[in-house]
Amino acid sequence: MPQPDSRALNPTSTVSPLVNGIEVQAGDLRERIVALRDDVLRVTYARGTSFPEDASWAVLATARHSAVPVTMETNADHFGFRTRALAVEIDRSTLQLVVRDLSDAVLQQDARPVRFDGDAFRVYKSMPRDEHYFGLGDKTGPLDRRNEAFTLWNTDAYRFQESTDPLYKSIPYFMTFRAGTALGVLLDDTWRTSFDFGKESSDIYSFGASAGPLDYYLFYGPAPRQVIETYAWLTGTPPLPPLWAFGFQQSRYSYMSQSRVLQVANRLRADSIPADAIYLDIDFQDRNRPFTVNRVAFPDIAGMVVQLKAINFHVVAITDLHIANVPAHNYFPYDSGIAGDHFVKNPDGSVFTGRVWPGPSVFPDFTRQQTRAWWGTLYRDLHRDGIDGFWNDMNEPSVFDTPNLTMPENAVHRIDEPGFAARTATHAEIHDVYGMENSRATFDGLLKLDPNSRPFVLTRATYAGGQRYAATWTGDNSSSWNHLRLATPMLENLGLSGFAFSGADVGGYAGTPSPELLTKWFEVAAFQPIDRDHTEKGTGDQEPWVGGSDQEAIRRRFIDTRYQLMPYLYTLAEEASRTGLPMLRPLFLEFPDAFADRHPIDIDNNASGEFLLGADLLIAPPPYLDERDGYSIEFPSRDWYDFWTGAKIPAPAPPSPDTSSPSVPTGPSVPLSARVTPDPAQLPVYVRAGSILPIAPVTQSTNEIPRGALTLRVYAGDNCTGEVYQDDGKTYAFQHGAYLRMKFNCQRDAEGMHLKIGSHEGSYPAWWKEIQVEIYGLSRDQDEIFVNSRRVSERIEVKSHSLSFFITDGGTGANIDVLAGK
Ligand code: NOJ
Repeated sequence: MPQPDSRALNPTSTVSPLVNGIEVQAGDLRERIVALRDDVLRVTYARGTSFPEDASWAVLATARHSAVPVTMETNADHFGFRTRALAVEIDRSTLQLVVRDLSDAVLQQDARPVRFDGDAFRVYKSMPRDEHYFGLGDKTGPLDRRNEAFTLWNTDAYRFQESTDPLYKSIPYFMTFRAGTALGVLLDDTWRTSFDFGKESSDIYSFGASAGPLDYYLFYGPAPRQVIETYAWLTGTPPLPPLWAFGFQQSRYSYMSQSRVLQVANRLRADSIPADAIYLDIDFQDRNRPFTVNRVAFPDIAGMVVQLKAINFHVVAITDLHIANVPAHNYFPYDSGIAGDHFVKNPDGSVFTGRVWPGPSVFPDFTRQQTRAWWGTLYRDLHRDGIDGFWNDMNEPSVFDTPNLTMPENAVHRIDEPGFAARTATHAEIHDVYGMENSRATFDGLLKLDPNSRPFVLTRATYAGGQRYAATWTGDNSSSWNHLRLATPMLENLGLSGFAFSGADVGGYAGTPSPELLTKWFEVAAFQPIDRDHTEKGTGDQEPWVGGSDQEAIRRRFIDTRYQLMPYLYTLAEEASRTGLPMLRPLFLEFPDAFADRHPIDIDNNASGEFLLGADLLIAPPPYLDERDGYSIEFPSRDWYDFWTGAKIPAPAPPSPDTSSPSVPTGPSVPLSARVTPDPAQLPVYVRAGSILPIAPVTQSTNEIPRGALTLRVYAGDNCTGEVYQDDGKTYAFQHGAYLRMKFNCQRDAEGMHLKIGSHEGSYPAWWKEIQVEIYGLSRDQDEIFVNSRRVSERIEVKSHSLSFFITDGGTGANIDVLAGK
C-alpha cells in the first residue's frame, strides 16, 4: 500500500514538556509519552481534544499513576527526553517515535507514522532481521511469533489446530528479543486487536485495533526476566493457589454419576497413583443449568465430597456463566439475576438471550461490580457442600446460535467499575475482557465466602491481567502427537504473558489417544504447572490405567516424580506469585546469552521441543514426539546432569583448530549436546550444574504429610543455589509469617565443597526432622564430611554418581564441608 510522504504530514508540531514526559501536538493529533519508571514508558494518542479516559481492566492504577522526572532533550528535528534508562525521541514532522538505551542503541522505532482509519488505528515498528517476538498468550504455532499474524478476539475454538486463530484468550502483550536485549509492549485496548510480526511486510511489525484508545506501554529489560517482572508490576502477579492445585488432577466430560466419581477416585488410590483433584463437568448439573445439581445422578453431593475428602481428594466443579433463561422455574440464578437487573441487554433494553448448553440462556454483565458481587453469592451452596475449586468455562462467551457465535457486538454492557466513568459499552468493547471479569467475580466471590482460604479458579477465556484471578488451560486440544508438541510453546508463551499457572488437557480433549501417546503426555505434563487429564464426551476413557498395566506403571512413575518434586514446584509457584516469573520457561528466559550472537536458543531446531521447569530443570522431549530416530539435545550452558541417573553430561571434545566455527556459544568452545534415542518409557530431563533441588518422599496427595527426610540434591557447579518454600498450602496465614523458607548455596575450592544450609525463615514448622544431602558430581569414597566442623561418619552412602548422608535439621542451618580425604 502506498504510504503518504510522512515528512510532509505535520509541518507545525508543538511540544509541551511535562514533569514526567512530553506531549506533542500536530493538527488535531496529540501524542503523550510519559515515564512511569525509568524503564517504563506509556504512549497515548488523542485525536481531537481529549485523551482517552485513564482507566484500565488490565493495568493496575498504582502502575498507571507512577511517574518519574525526566530530562528534556529537544533539537531542530525532534522533541525528546531522557530517563535514567531510556532516551525518547519524537520526530517533529511525522511524530514517529524512537526509543534508545543510554548507549544510543535503538531499542525500538516507528517504521511509519501511526495510521488512523475511522475508529481503527495501526502502529508500525521497524523489524530488525535478528529480532524475535514472544507472548500473546497461548496462540498456536512456534514459540517465536516472527513471520506470523494474530487476531485477538476471544473465541470458543473447539478442536483448534496449529494455525487456528483467534483462540480463547486475548493478551495484547508481547516481548521483543534481539541479541540478548528484551523489551515489552502492552497494547491496552479491549476491542478486537491484531498483531503482525512481519507476515505482511518483512521489515515491519505492526499492531492495531478496530477501535478504542491508542494506549500502549513500552518496558525495557534488558534481561527478559526483567521484562516479565515489569509486566507483573503493570498487570499484577498471580495469587498463590492452594498446594493441591499442583497435584495430579483427574477430569473428563463428564463423570456421569456420583458413584462413577467415587469409583475413579478409589481406583487412583487403589493403584497408588498420586492425585489431588477430581472434576465435575456439566453433567453433574440439572439440565445443564449452572449452580444446580442433578439429584438423580448425584443424590448426595455433600456426602460424596466428604467421602472424597476422606481419601484426600478435592473436588472442582464447573460453573458456566450462561444462566438458563427459565422464568418461573424456581431457578435462583435466573430469578435473582433478573430481580437485580444483572444481565447483558440488547440495544432495545430487553435482556439478550442466546443458546448454550442449558438451551436459551442469559449472560451476567460482569463489567458491573454489583453483578460480580451477586455472581459470587451463587457459589454459596456448592461451597457449603465442600467443593474446593471452580471452573469457569465457555466464557468467551460461547453462544451457539448467533451469527458470530458469541454475543452480538452491539449488545449493551453497563460499566460500573471503580476508576471508570459509569457508562454503557458495546459488547465489541467488552468482549475480550468478559471472561476475565467472569473469573474475577468467581475469585472475589469465593474469597468473600471464605476469606482465609485461597481459591482455585480455572478459566478458559481471559485478558491481560487475568492472572490475578485464575489459572488457565489451553482449551479443546486434540489427542494427537502434534498437539502434545504444540502444548509446550503454548504454555511457554502463556507463562511469558503473565499466566504462571497453566496446563493443557493431558491426553488431548478431542479424540482418544493411543496408549503410547497418553503415556508420553503423562510424562511431559508431570513437569508442567497444571497437570490435568481431561477428555471430551464420547471419547474412550483416559485415566492413567487405560491401556494396560505396563503403561500405567510408566505413568505412575512420572506422577510419583512430580510429587517428589512438589517442594520444588511449590517453591516456583510462590516465586511466581511474588515476581510473575512463570514456572515453565523457555530456555532464553534463563539463558539469554547462550550464544555469541545471543539469539534465543529455543528457535534452534534441536532445542525446539525443550523447556525449563524453573531455572534448574531442562525437559527435552524429542522435537517430534512420535519419532523413533535418535535426536540431539542442545544445552543452553556448559554443565548439566542427567536428572534420572545423576551422571554428568560429558563435555564435548574441544574443536580441532581447522574445524572451529565462529558462531558458537560464549561460554564453552563447543556447545554441550547429548544424543539420545527416544524411549516410550523415558523422558530426557537434565539438571543445571549448580542447582540444589528440594525433594520429598512420594505421597498419594499433597494433603498427606510426607514421611521421612527432605532430600537436597546438590549438583556441583557454578552459581550453586537453591531454595525451598513451604506453608500450610491452604490459607493466607503465610502472609502473616506462617511460612518456611530455607536458602541453600554451595561453593567449591581446592579443598572440596562447602554447602550452606540456611536457617528456617518464618514460623511454619517443617515436616522433616532430617535432611538427606545428596551430592552429585563429587563422589569419591575417600571424601570426609563435616557438619558445623564435626566429622560425620555414619550413614554415608556412596553411589556411582552421588554421595549422600543425613543431617539433623533443627532450623538453625548448617555449614557442611565435603573434603577430599587423605
Ligand atoms: C468446553 C471445555 O473446553 C471442555 O473442557 C469441557 O469439557 C466442555 N466445554 C463441557 O463442559
